[in-house]
This record gives sequence, structure tokens and C-alpha cells, in this order.
Amino acid sequence: MSGMRRLSLTKEENCSLVNELYAEEPKPSSGITLSSKELNFSVSLPLLQSNDGTRFIDIRKLTDLTGLYTYDPGFSCTSYCCSKITHIDGAKGILQYRGYDIHDLTENCSYLEVCYLLIFGRLPSKEELDCFENEVLDEMFVHEKIKDLYKSFEKDAHPMAIMVGVVGALSAFMRKAEETNFENQRFTTAVQIISKMPVLAAIAFRTSRGLPLVEVDRKYGYVENFLRMMFKSPTSEWTVDPKIIKIMEKLLILHADHEQNASACTVRIASSSLANPYVCIAAGIASLWGPAHGGASEAAINSLEKMGSPENIPSFLESVKAKREKLMGFGHRIYKSYDPRADIVKKAVNDITALFGETDDKDILSVALKLEETALKDKYFTDRKLFPNVDFYTGIIYKTIGIPKDMFTVMFAVGRAVGWITQLNESRIEQPKIGRPRQIYMGYLNRKFEPIEKREKKKFEVVIPKHSELFKIPFHK
Ligand code: CMC
Repeated sequence: MSGMRRLSLTKEENCSLVNELYAEEPKPSSGITLSSKELNFSVSLPLLQSNDGTRFIDIRKLTDLTGLYTYDPGFSCTSYCCSKITHIDGAKGILQYRGYDIHDLTENCSYLEVCYLLIFGRLPSKEELDCFENEVLDEMFVHEKIKDLYKSFEKDAHPMAIMVGVVGALSAFMRKAEETNFENQRFTTAVQIISKMPVLAAIAFRTSRGLPLVEVDRKYGYVENFLRMMFKSPTSEWTVDPKIIKIMEKLLILHADHEQNASACTVRIASSSLANPYVCIAAGIASLWGPAHGGASEAAINSLEKMGSPENIPSFLESVKAKREKLMGFGHRIYKSYDPRADIVKKAVNDITALFGETDDKDILSVALKLEETALKDKYFTDRKLFPNVDFYTGIIYKTIGIPKDMFTVMFAVGRAVGWITQLNESRIEQPKIGRPRQIYMGYLNRKFEPIEKREKKKFEVVIPKHSELFKIPFHK
């Protein structure tokens, strides 16, 4: 790969690329009239239509025209941006990146090819991909001082907590990334984030186990380097079955983007204040960590392990239906039929089982398969259109490969980093409007202030454990 042209764009290439990537707002296709006799108004609001034919009421003038606001917790029916990156048709179970079907991409592309597609909006030629990979490998290292940070975490710190910290800390080292007004810098930051995420993840894994760190080796590709940085034994050569690489590429592609989910929305909102992109990505990692989002794969494995055997499924499902717990890895805000990613992961489970033969996890797999079969015949799940999502089976693959449970969401974050930075870059082509929703205030109004000596003596006591108890500080009274 040496002697390859560096990934730099001329000014003209840059301009035409940015125009191509700019998600221009649709022109109003028609209007909709909202009227209220009670409130004495009748207003016409524009209707906007997306490329897939979905229609949206443009409510930006609503408050000026009527004095009314809208209420939509969880943004279930609210769009807050125009985007050209990812398309989901939840009713049909379709997922496309830049217009390409996820099945075609996972079957035919490498993860970096898909990163290129997301960042630059089109699939690369062979030469462009080689050049891109070259650039990414060039950046697969972190400042030595970042490595020092890992020493300050507790031994049992969750790797996602560490990732939030170290990715946020990168903002102190990558100051140029703040120049998001410059197109070239936006693309450079995207490349750097893709490069550094696996390095940071691997350091989190190895330091937690006291293993020496492994540097990038240009003999290997991106995904191979990632696995090598994680798993290379300090005393022997590194080998890996190419079929495992293929499966990992697939999982990373499946995680690469998913339009306006909680973490992408977090990144966009954090970025709307024009903060350094690395802290915005750290905010995305924080949002991803929770079990309702990317943390679901770890939570799903935990409940499968707890069930232990298919005979415990009925009682588990009863407790789910009684709302005592959730079936993790099931359900989705957008998909109301099978999540296409779950379909691909389920097939990959067969590939991994064929590769590893009968593993200790065969019981978990049989519980998962039976659980899915039972749930999909149960009225509770069919009525609510609850299907397995991407996180239901991913954990089984990771576990078989040897990735520990607390690293599952980190693997997700490594794959999703490209989506986050692409969403951020898209939002910054123009000056973004700061994210600032409204609330329905239900608290007190206009309370009469009372000086402290006049307040009621004791309503309740706040007892916070003393530092000495928390940290077992000796000699402390
Ligand atoms: N198990 C049991 N019941 C569920 C589940 C579930 N996993 N998901 C939703 N429901 C029920 C929910 O209780 C509600 O029932 P009811 O109508 O009786 O009140 C109904 O289905 C609608 O659910 P909702 O909470 O309004 O749905 P939502 O769109 O707000 O939440 C979700 C989506 C993904 C957060 C939720 O389905 C969930 O918590 N799933 C489990 C966690 C999970 O697997 N998350 C990964 C999501 S996909 C990967 C990713 O993007 O990170």
C-alpha cells in the first residue's frame, strides 16, 4: 500500500462533495389546515415530503401563529433534521445506507468500504478504498498520555465508562477537530475517529487484564488489526480464521449507522452547540451504553444465562407480560416487522456455530432460539409487533469469539462511531440550529419566599454516606 496517493481532496472536489452530501430541506408539497373554534384560529402549515413519500407537518411557525406548542416525549412522531445518510422502512423491515440495502452491503463489502460510503456518500473504487484504508491505518494510534488515563480507572470499571472518559479526553488532544467549518477537517476527523475507536477499545480490554498493549501492524487490515490488538498473545504469533474476520466485518457494518436513534440524536444535539466532535462522540457513547439501546446485547445474554434452559422460558415470559421485566433484544421504536439486522445476525450465528462446533454456549443458543419461537407465537408480542432486534443474537457471536460481556457494547460503539461522526458532519455542513426542546412545566409557580429562620423545622432528613464510609478512609472521624 506504500506510495499510495493520500486522501486529500482539491477545493473543487471538496465543494462538489459537500453539495452532494448536503441534505437540503424539501420544498413544501402542499399545506394542511389546523383550526380550532375553541381557540379561535385557523392556520395553514406546510407539508413536507421525504424521498420515501412520508409526509411531515412543518410546525416551525405553529407557535407564532397560534401560541401553541407540541408535546412528543421520546420524539415518537417528531423529525428534527433532514438527512441523506440512512433510510429505514420499519413496516417492511428495510434498512439502507446511502440508498444501498444492508443485505448487499454485509454480503459484499468490508466495514471500511461502508465507512467510506457513509462519510463520502458513494462506494469507493478499488484505488480509493486502498487509499482510505491506508489513511485509517496511519491514524491507528493514540497519544501516549491517553494511555496513561487508563491507569486511573478502578479495576472493575465498565469498559463503556472508560470509553466515555477516554474519547471525551481525546478532545483535549485533537483541537483541530473543532474546525468543523472546513470540509477537509470534517473528513479528517471522521477518518481519525474510525481509526482511534478500535485502539481505545483494545486498550480498555487489555489494560483490564494486565496485558501488554499491541500496536497496529500494516500487514493486516482494519478489522484484523482490531482483533489482533485485543487478542494477540504476548508470546505467540497472531493468526485468525478469515471467516471470523468476515463475521466481525458484518457486525460492524450492521452497527455502522441507524439514523436518528438515541445516541445519534445525542451526538447531534451535543454538536449543535458547536462543541468539539470528540466530546459529542463521548456523549453518544454514554447514550449507547444503556440497556434500552446498545447495552441490550449484554442485558440479553445476562437474561438468557439466567434462564439457563428452555424449560424456564414460560415463567420468564409470564414475568415479561406482567411487566416485571423486559425481554432484552426485543422490540424497536421503528421496526414493526423483523429487524433486518437481526435476520443477518441470526444467519451469522449459524456461521459461527459451524466454525466453532458445539461450544459451552450451545445451551444459550438453544434458549435464545426457543425464546424467539415462543415469543413470536404469543399474543402479547404479536399485538405489540415485538420482534428480535440486532442485539438479541449479537452477544452469542461475541461470546463465542471470546469477547467478554462487558465489551459487547464497546464493539457496538466501535462500529457506530462512523455513523455518529457522519451524522455530526452532516449537521455541520451549515451552522446547526441549537437543539433546545420545550417542556410542559408542571411545578410550582410564584411561591412566596420564606427566610431560612421561618421555615418549618424538620420535614425529612437527608442522609448521605460519609466519604470515609464510601472509601474506607482510616483514621477519619
Ligand atoms: N419486552 C417486553 N415488552 C416490551 C418490550 C420488550 N423488550 N419492548 C416494548 N415492550 C412493550 C412495552 O411495555 C409497551 O407495552 P404496553 O403497550 O402494554 O405499554 C409496548 O411494547 C410498546 O413499547 P414502548 O416502550 O412504547 O416502545 P418504545 O418504542 O418506546 O421502546 C425499545 C423501544 C427498544 C426501547 C423497547 O422495545 C425496549 O426496551 N426493548 C428492550 C431493549 C432493547 O432490546 N433495546 C435495543 C434496541 S435495538 C438496538 C439499538 O438501537 O440499540
